[in-house]
Amino acid sequence: MTTTSARAREEQLAVVRLPEYTGADREEVRGGVPDPYQIEGLVMAWRPKREHFGIRREGRLVAHAGLVTVPVSVAGRRTEAVGLGGVIVAPGLRGQGLARAVVTAAMDHARGMGPDAGLLFCWPERMPVYEALGWRELEEHVRVEQPDGPVTMPMRTMWTPLREGAGWPPGPVHLLSLPF
Ligand SMILES: CC(C)(COP(=O)(O)OP(=O)(O)OC[C@H]1O[C@@H](n2cnc3c(N)ncnc32)[C@H](O)[C@@H]1OP(=O)(O)O)[C@@H](O)C(=O)NCCC(=O)NCCS
Repeated sequence: MTTTSARAREEQLAVVRLPEYTGADREEVRGGVPDPYQIEGLVMAWRPKREHFGIRREGRLVAHAGLVTVPVSVAGRRTEAVGLGGVIVAPGLRGQGLARAVVTAAMDHARGMGPDAGLLFCWPERMPVYEALGWRELEEHVRVEQPDGPVTMPMRTMWTPLREGAGWPPGPVHLLSLPF
């Protein structure tokens, strides 16, 4: 039996598929905080996400996660991964499970997209959040594409299996795309 408070909590964490993720949506969720991902100093080009998931509270977008399928070369073998990016929870609402809810919904969707693994980039201080969600560190330095050619990604890389038994093969990793 679902209790009233359990139902209320479920409603608070209800994730919806967003038809788009506009500049206004980004502003709404970041709540006026400049550079929430701490990437402006990097001067890197980023790839937009194709699929968007969000949580709304009283109409306001308060959490987001985006996905995009990307080509990647692992030990010289070309494959694809589902990139997770744009993960953000509105300041003031963090620590309540919103990131868990929106990332879990996005990765449930990712399991039907084809690739065997999800991939993300983050700063070391964010890794415990993703570890709690089942992601693992990829120890390899990862090369990523930029407009002037490949560079070594300064952020950390993490991966997660999208089907039972999927592993990440050893060897050099080159994202054949802008990072996401
Ligand atoms: C990172 C961010 C999305 C996390 O959102 P959140 O709503 O606070 O996260 P949740 O409450 O859903 O927590 C998710 C899990 O991470 C864990 N976690 C959160 N912060 C943690 C920390 N500092 N150390 C260890 N674990 C942590 C939580 O305990 C939870 O695991 P649990 O469900 O097993 O308890 C949020 O801080 C944010 O928007 N930051 C700014 C943007 C950003 O850095 N995005 C990530 C880019 S890679």
